[in-house]
Amino acid sequence: MIGRLNHVAIAVSDLDRAAAVYRDILGARVSDAVPQPEHGVTTVFVTLPNTKVELLEPLGPGSPVAKFLERNPEGGMHHLCYEVPDIRAARDALRAAGMRVLGDGEPKTGAHGKPVLFLHPKDFAGTLVELEQA
Ligand code: CO
Repeated sequence: MIGRLNHVAIAVSDLDRAAAVYRDILGARVSDAVPQPEHGVTTVFVTLPNTKVELLEPLGPGSPVAKFLERNPEGGMHHLCYEVPDIRAARDALRAAGMRVLGDGEPKTGAHGKPVLFLHPKDFAGTLVELEQA
C-alpha cells in the first residue's frame, strides 16, 4: 500500500524566517509561500533530492496548526506524508484494519492538487499521517 515519503511537514510560527533558514543557510530550493485557505495554512515547500519538507504557518482563525503551535511554541514536526497508488482503496483497507481516518473520510485536494487524507496519530505511533495519491 505505502509508497514513497512525499514530505515531512513542520509547523512554524514565522514562515519567512523558517524559509530563509532552509534557503540561505542550508542552501535548499525553497518555493514561494502559498496560502491554502481551505486547509487553514500557508505553505512553503523545500525540495530535497529525495523528498520534500513542507513548512506550515497557521492561516486564519481555527487553523489546525495554531493549536499545535500553542503546545509547541518553537514549532515542530507536524505530519508525515506517504504516497499511495489509490487513496480510496488505501482508506478502505485501513478502515478494515481498524485504523481511524480523520474527517468524513472523503479525500480532499492537498497542497499539490492531489487527493489527500489524514490518519489518526494514535494509530500510527503518535504521528499524524497524511496519505497522498501519487
Ligand atoms: Co502535508
